[in-house]
Amino acid sequence: MMEKKEGMSRRQFLTYTLMGTGGFLLSGMMVPMVRFAIDPVLQPKAAAADFVEVGTLDEFTTTPIKKTFTLERMDGWYLDKAKLSAYISKSEAGEILALSPICKHLGCTIAWEGGGRENKYYCPCHDGEYTPDGVNVPGTPPPLPLDEYTVEIKDNKVYLGALRQRGGA
Ligand code: FES
Repeated sequence: MMEKKEGMSRRQFLTYTLMGTGGFLLSGMMVPMVRFAIDPVLQPKAAAADFVEVGTLDEFTTTPIKKTFTLERMDGWYLDKAKLSAYISKSEAGEILALSPICKHLGCTIAWEGGGRENKYYCPCHDGEYTPDGVNVPGTPPPLPLDEYTVEIKDNKVYLGALRQRGGA
């Protein structure tokens, strides 16, 4: 007649020990992975600037001035520092217009009154032209007006934000 043993068998003890050790090691691996995956959600917002100061209101006139600036943006874990430029002018009514210098045809850089064009933006790649407010001149290659920066005025200073595309002429 067999005697029934009381308590835990050696097999059960080994199974529980292996499960406990495996669980402990697995959690040690999973915690950093989960933390790494959700880290951007835990970071405080607006670590990077949305608007960049480019000058004071009184330095701009109806003749566009080219300004270069650095715009910082958080892209996940990565702080992207984009070196950008804009042609900035002020209308007679005092409104600031900031245009991207990137041609809407194939992306060349335009120049104010380049190529001998008076009172126009000129793209040297395929003779593209834009009016002073950045609208593409019909009959030249660019299909759209120049992109426009979001402008904010605070304490007599001009700040530029995100670029936005404008509709066709
Ligand atoms: S890239 Fe500007 S006209 Fe073609």
